Amino acid sequence: MSDKLSGIKSAFETDIRTVVDLDQWEALRVAYLGRKSALSEVMAVMKDLSAEQKRTFGKKANEVRAFLETALAQKRIELEAKGTHANLIDVTRPGVKRHAGHLHPLTRVEEEIKQIFLAMNFSVVEGPEIETEHYNFDALNIPASHPAREMWDTFWIKPITDNRQPTTKNKMQNRYLLRTHTSPMQIRYMENHRPPFQIIVPGRVFRYEATDASHEINFYQMEGLMVGTNVSLANFKYVIEEFFKKFFNDPDMQFRFRPSYFPFVEPGVEVDIKRKGDSKWLEVMGAGMVHRNVLKATGYNPDEVQGFAFGMGTDRLAMLKYKIPDIRFFYNGDLRFIKQFKK
Ligand code: DAH
Repeated sequence: MSDKLSGIKSAFETDIRTVVDLDQWEALRVAYLGRKSALSEVMAVMKDLSAEQKRTFGKKANEVRAFLETALAQKRIELEAKGTHANLIDVTRPGVKRHAGHLHPLTRVEEEIKQIFLAMNFSVVEGPEIETEHYNFDALNIPASHPAREMWDTFWIKPITDNRQPTTKNKMQNRYLLRTHTSPMQIRYMENHRPPFQIIVPGRVFRYEATDASHEINFYQMEGLMVGTNVSLANFKYVIEEFFKKFFNDPDMQFRFRPSYFPFVEPGVEVDIKRKGDSKWLEVMGAGMVHRNVLKATGYNPDEVQGFAFGMGTDRLAMLKYKIPDIRFFYNGDLRFIKQFKK
């Protein structure tokens, strides 16, 4: 009887080493612990033994059973761990491509513009998108009666009528709007800094307009302002030609400076470029020498300092550089468009 039990144990120890999956494990369990197993047979004849023998062999049989159960349980844990692992890391499986985000094309172009100006010692500053009529218009030499105001179709912000508002008089002078251009930051900056300086102002602007392939109700601009003693239109010409040559990576491009009108500059110009391969002139920015009235509005003496200013559409430059046919692609959220700009 005792030999039989020892035999079961050693046979089991040999068999369990060959088990490599859960099916084999189950077969082994049935073979050694099932109703028809050798152990069950030993247990079955136990009832015919004397009380003395029952105690001895019963104890031994229970020890063997406990040994089998423990070993089986242990083996099962091993097999399950191996199974899960195999599912997790199958080195023969092709990798899953991870999609990381990237910069929006407009952000990228804004960044490209900034880098070129930073290299020319310009600083980057930003202003508020909600502006007052004073900064967006009046201080830029565009009084309410001025017909030039029609150049900028404006989103006015409805005043809240409660006692937190200023008096009626101030309210009229300080009507709020969504800035129609980045030019108001010229005034804000000059109010708080002494020349000489040179800045660029990237930012979002708003126009109350119908949209089409080249117009959006919001878009981005890059403003520039350089003020100092003896700053001239020749300085402007140099800086801006440098900029465009670098931006379009075309050292041989042609330039045209056409007289134009903006209330905050005198003289005012528009800049046209013609790149290698362009068949016609492309208008790319408005600019000019800062108007005396603008310098005066910020407390500067126009007989002592001069400056040039310029403003360009970031969207437009991005469209020209990357041959984008419709400004609305930037804003409609279609990822098929955005994803083409992954670096
Ligand atoms: N603010 C003008 C616009 O939005 C662009 C502009 C023109 C800016 C001439 C300037 C400038 O600084 O000198 O249409």
